[in-house]
Amino acid sequence: GLPERVTIYEVGPRDGLQNEKAIVPVEVKSEFVTRLADAGLGTIETTSFVHPKWVPQLADAEELLGVLPRSGVVRYPVLVPNERGLDRALANGITEIAIFGSATETFARRNLNRTVDESLAMFAPVVDRARAEGLWVRAYVSMACGDPWEGDVPIEQVVSVASRLMDLGCSQLSIGDTIGVGTPGHVTALIEALAAAGIGTERLAVHFHDTYGQALANTLAALRAGVTVVDASAGGLGGCPYAESATGNLPTEDLVWMLNGLGVETGVDLGKLVATSRWMAGRLGRPSPSRVVQALSPT
Ligand code: HMG
Ligand code: MG
Repeated sequence: GLPERVTIYEVGPRDGLQNEKAIVPVEVKSEFVTRLADAGLGTIETTSFVHPKWVPQLADAEELLGVLPRSGVVRYPVLVPNERGLDRALANGITEIAIFGSATETFARRNLNRTVDESLAMFAPVVDRARAEGLWVRAYVSMACGDPWEGDVPIEQVVSVASRLMDLGCSQLSIGDTIGVGTPGHVTALIEALAAAGIGTERLAVHFHDTYGQALANTLAALRAGVTVVDASAGGLGGCPYAESATGNLPTEDLVWMLNGLGVETGVDLGKLVATSRWMAGRLGRPSPSRVVQALSPT
């Protein structure tokens, strides 16, 4: 069966824009987030409180949150890797954060400058303090379906890191197929293994990149397995600057088109969303890779 309703966790402003060559002006980012909220997206990962030298594209996090009109209804989670990041998030009135761990040692080193053990030690006080402050905390586990340097990543290894992340006290786990190599059978097996380890689908989200064109198929497999939270990026923007061969995320428009066809509610206005991605494509100077954005745009 399929869920009646799916919560879309929009990552375009963060996962999308972190990977742009050009630095997008803060006014454009603010308009982007505002238009996404107006299109009905209720959770929008807005930016990252990471080291500005590591991700210069998001160095304006404070400035963006300063100008962004924040409604009381929409949630604006941000990435936080360490206590310095948490301090910055708290100083900016953030109420939802995401830590981001790696299933593999190579990516932990490249993305966080830490081993897997060291990165968990870095996250532990972040989650403790965040929860004490009443924040909601999500954990990502990256390279969950494969790693560009290490190749196949055993399911037990992903489950082990995921369990350690969740044991820190996180409320949700997002399964990150960072480089988009996963296929539906693997996704189903991974979700079953997580459930067997005590991380049930009510605490899961899926985060697919569309490098190999598998993101929608993987999403459908996850929905059939009981997942109801799906990450997507407006217009299919995105990737990760520290992961070779990570291209765009699952485009939010492609996801909404599929869910509309399946009669699964999302609360998203597809017309407004497509208009937003076309506008953003204009600002970035190249067409959106989303098939649905292309199909619904006049030629
Ligand atoms: P490090 O160099 O080891 O940092 O980087 P450090 O702890 O040694 O600190 C060095 C200096 O940086 C210190 O300053 C700190 O204060 C400062 P100094 O005392 O030398 O003057 N510093 C900071 N400044 C501002 N904000 C901070 C911060 N932290 C330290 N938060 C660090 C370690 C984790 C900071 C670095 O590796 C980093 O920022 N990494 C982030 C990389 C990133 O954002 N990657 C993309 C997101 S992950 C992704 O896209 C995957 C995902 O989409 C899911 C999927 O697809 O799988 C989520
Ligand atoms: Mg990602």
